[in-house]
Amino acid sequence: MLTGNRPHLPTASLILMGILLIMYACNSTSVSKVSQVSPKIESSQDIIELKIDSILALMTLQEKIGQTAQRGKSSRVKDIPPELKEALKKGEIGSFLNVTSKEDVTELQRIAVEESPRGIPLIFARDVIHGYKTIFPIPLGQAATFNPSLTEKGARIAAIEASSNGIRWTFAPMLDISRDPRWGRISESGGEDPYLTSRMAEAYVKGFQGDDLTDPTSIAACAKHFVGYGAAEGGRDYNTANINDFSLHNNYLKPFKASVDAGVATFMSGFNEVNGVPASGNQYLMRSILREEWGFDGFVVSDWESIIEMIPHGFAADEKHAAALGANAMVDMEMTSTSYQQYLAELIAEGKVSEEILDEMVRNILRIKYRLGLFDNPYFDPSDEKLYAPEHLDAAKQSALESMVLLKNNRNTLPLGRTKKIALIGPLADKGHEQLGTWTFDGEKNKTITPKMALQKDRSLDVTFSEGLSFSRDLNKDKFEAAIQTAESADVIVFCAGEEAILSGEAHSRADISLPGAQEELILELAKTGKPIILVVMAGRPITFERIIDKVDAVIMAWHPGTMGGPALKDILIGDASPSGKLPVTWPKMNGQMPIYYNHKMTGRPVKPDEFVEMYEIPIEAWQSSLGNTTHYLDAGYLPAFPFGFGMSYSSFDYSNITLSSTKITKDEALTVTVTVKNTGNYQAQETVQLYFRDMVGSLTRPVKELLRFEKVLLKPGESKNLSFTFTAQELAFYGPSKKWIVEPGTFKLWVAKHAMDTTNELEFTLE
Ligand code: NOJ
Repeated sequence: MLTGNRPHLPTASLILMGILLIMYACNSTSVSKVSQVSPKIESSQDIIELKIDSILALMTLQEKIGQTAQRGKSSRVKDIPPELKEALKKGEIGSFLNVTSKEDVTELQRIAVEESPRGIPLIFARDVIHGYKTIFPIPLGQAATFNPSLTEKGARIAAIEASSNGIRWTFAPMLDISRDPRWGRISESGGEDPYLTSRMAEAYVKGFQGDDLTDPTSIAACAKHFVGYGAAEGGRDYNTANINDFSLHNNYLKPFKASVDAGVATFMSGFNEVNGVPASGNQYLMRSILREEWGFDGFVVSDWESIIEMIPHGFAADEKHAAALGANAMVDMEMTSTSYQQYLAELIAEGKVSEEILDEMVRNILRIKYRLGLFDNPYFDPSDEKLYAPEHLDAAKQSALESMVLLKNNRNTLPLGRTKKIALIGPLADKGHEQLGTWTFDGEKNKTITPKMALQKDRSLDVTFSEGLSFSRDLNKDKFEAAIQTAESADVIVFCAGEEAILSGEAHSRADISLPGAQEELILELAKTGKPIILVVMAGRPITFERIIDKVDAVIMAWHPGTMGGPALKDILIGDASPSGKLPVTWPKMNGQMPIYYNHKMTGRPVKPDEFVEMYEIPIEAWQSSLGNTTHYLDAGYLPAFPFGFGMSYSSFDYSNITLSSTKITKDEALTVTVTVKNTGNYQAQETVQLYFRDMVGSLTRPVKELLRFEKVLLKPGESKNLSFTFTAQELAFYGPSKKWIVEPGTFKLWVAKHAMDTTNELEFTLE
């Protein structure tokens, strides 16, 4: 593959490396570099550090700065600007993003390896968020599977497909805890819960990176956006995050820590500020927590221009100041903006950034390039494309199946079986592009199987289709009449509603999260036919449907289910599979309830359901008094539409024999909760058993409930399984007033539950 006439790895570099290796082997300490790294060569990691030393020793300041530069183009632009190739030849670029042509990837890598001064390979990045070509459900949907092994498989498949096109780095997983469905990027998240998001974080990292990062199908994962981006005020994207240090540690940081423990190769700094300091210049987050406390030794990339966005934030005076702030926070690589390239040399000369910091940044970047095996094997095989393999499509279907959440099913409207005449209606019933969801640059609508395609392909079904509305925001009612007629001649209506893909994701927040366009009106018209209505929602967030919920008989939340959404939905509608998804977010009834999440605090006036007086029941000229009132809304009350962890099945499950291994433990001990789960219904189905806890009294007030464990089991009708959940007292620790993790003695409650508001099976123990 190497074709140029210049040696690609500089001879001098190899010689120096050789000398260093010999000196290490002899345990020599006469070279100053030796003291900076491990004195003995004990592992491949030590050898990598030696190799990095040898290259760094040869690099000019400009070449070092070059490694910190990520260049590329917007996802819309196809050609590589010629000036970028020239910069690459001079060693001024360390990474590219959004290079989509295989020829370009190969050519740029050839220039880097053969023509740049040190021959350091490039790392090619892309947003491979929930699939590359074979698109899996949006991450929020994947979280609803409560099945991390499916997510791991999906990420593995995404890595296999993307790496076969030369991509070795994805900007995923997104680990921002989000408690506000107005925020468009909730779709990319694992939802509101730190424990569930942490388990998903591990799954994504393992899947993308595989067992061995040097494997050509492994791609580096990127934990983003560090940190607090999901706490954007009012759900407005890019907005301010005010998160106190306790909540930061007890909620927002946890999934990121889990990703470090799982070996994530890279991090991305957020656009947002946290408590007044932009994440991309935040030394507390990037250095004290990420590097010093967690020992992360990969590299951090900024978000798109987030270094220079510290100027509009009002934190940096100009680009030079921004570069100093970013580098001193050790944001190692700058995505697309060029402040490092323009100013780092000057800043170093002026002593505002030390060259040691720059060396450390370059070291972090080279370490990951080594770990990916890029120095040995910089190229990919363009003829070995592995896209849409049958097993990829099967896995995408399984993931879509397990992500779908049955929210309502009056009088067992579902499953439909095969005898009913179905009227398939709605703007998302046949929209290949929309059902792929946000962040699917490489997904292809012509490879997507829609509900209409899947239902009509099954010759045993009688399905007529009338779209009613052309797209989710459509206000034109011209097609209503045809849709009503289609409904009238059928036994049941399946209405595919929701949001187009563009209505969620980055920069697409909404203040009103009800169904857009004239969808509600069409549903109200269809309800007049008296036919049962099954509402299928394809959306990037929970959707409020106060006006229509009583008019429909069943509701399936299908998220944006990806390439195989149609076949998965068909299986659930017909009854070939039972729904098993559970909500990874609390589902509000109305807009005013947001932010909303289950693991909130008690407050001094917790809700008293028996004393709740609804707004219209308050007598006229009632005496002004707060007594009896609690932390609720007069109009929305205190309940969500559906709680976190909720999701129905075609079957039913009984929990029995619930035991606790002890009612007392010390802080060095563990406890085991056991439960027998029985499928008491008529369908083979999966159930997700959830274990929640509450620390009743704390030196810092504790949430009303926190998810501690979950397990998803498949049971045949009548079948039982015993599950056991073991946890240590240390897992109940919280980051407390002393700014340390503490486990406090006291009473704890546990619930073996079907969702966050299920208090049927309550246990108690004491920590001594
Ligand atoms: C901006 C987004 O915030 C980030 O998530 C994404 O990875 C980068 N752009 C690159 O596309």
